Amino acid sequence: MTGLETKIVQGETIPSLGLGTFELTGPDGEAAIRTAIELGYRQIDTAIRYGNELEVGRAIRESGVPRRELFVTSKIWFNDLAPETVSCRVDEILERLGFDYVDLLLVHWPTRDVPLGETLAAFAEAKAKGKTRLIGVSNFTVALLDEALDVHKAELFCNQVEYHPFLSQQKLLDRMNRAGMLLNAYQPIARGKVFGSDLLNDLGRKYGKSAGQVTLRWLIQQDNVGAIPRSAKPENMKSNRDIFDFELSQHDMAAIHALARGERYSRFDWEPEWD
Ligand SMILES: NC(=O)c1ccc[n+]([C@@H]2O[C@H](COP(=O)([O-])OP(=O)(O)OC[C@H]3O[C@@H](n4cnc5c(N)ncnc54)[C@H](OP(=O)(O)O)[C@@H]3O)[C@@H](O)[C@H]2O)c1
Repeated sequence: MTGLETKIVQGETIPSLGLGTFELTGPDGEAAIRTAIELGYRQIDTAIRYGNELEVGRAIRESGVPRRELFVTSKIWFNDLAPETVSCRVDEILERLGFDYVDLLLVHWPTRDVPLGETLAAFAEAKAKGKTRLIGVSNFTVALLDEALDVHKAELFCNQVEYHPFLSQQKLLDRMNRAGMLLNAYQPIARGKVFGSDLLNDLGRKYGKSAGQVTLRWLIQQDNVGAIPRSAKPENMKSNRDIFDFELSQHDMAAIHALARGERYSRFDWEPEWD
């Protein structure tokens, strides 16, 4: 054990590793989420957009693990960010999950259709009402974070962004570390592409691990960085989880950083101007 199973960010303890649940829907998705909880996952990442909050709620209840032991995140889509809509969406999220709070509520993607300050005020209100313990954003750039933090004085816990060895997030990390925020890495194993990297496979052999485990370890070994790999397969969930019994050297950490080549897999019409 290397003591990195949890991160303490802004005084809050969060499991370093969570389960991404995109496409884990229906009975199979629900069973997969429950399996992950049985395998020890305590952070679950969902979103209205994933259409699986009912499944997430049921899987948690059926697991028998007390709600307070889990860290549950959901996200509101970018066309629902007007304040009155946010308020409705939060209630709907809680109704589908069957809980009276989420741990973290995120703006799924930024939009210019609603003033950011209004959205953040609505998120702060949801927090003040106890409907979410923490608030944050996803897919925010340095410029958007500057606006949220400096202009609107938002108390943001997290920015969930794409981050893996093929995409540097150093500029964003520098800004977020100044604010003491968590960077939760989505697509942390680059949708499986890390298994094709010679360097990551070589390091895997060196440490007796897989390329995926080396990648996840590289992420969570960085200050204020977590990761939410998704898998529907118990053997992959186990593999992704078993990253707390080895430590990458500083030399190997740097070698993985050097793989960055600006490769971004989440590309959309509505994306902001990336850093
Ligand atoms: N905020 C956002 O805008 C945003 C965007 C994208 C994703 N996300 C979140 O981030 C999560 C993760 O991203 P992602 O699901 O797109 O990509 P990912 O976690 O990088 O990769 C998932 C893929 O890798 C496979 N996989 C997982 N573990 C493996 C292992 N140990 N060995 C071999 N293959 C493995 C999975 O297949 P198997 O099921 O067969 O294991 C799946 O096809 C999402 O589920 C979602 O919660 C957020």
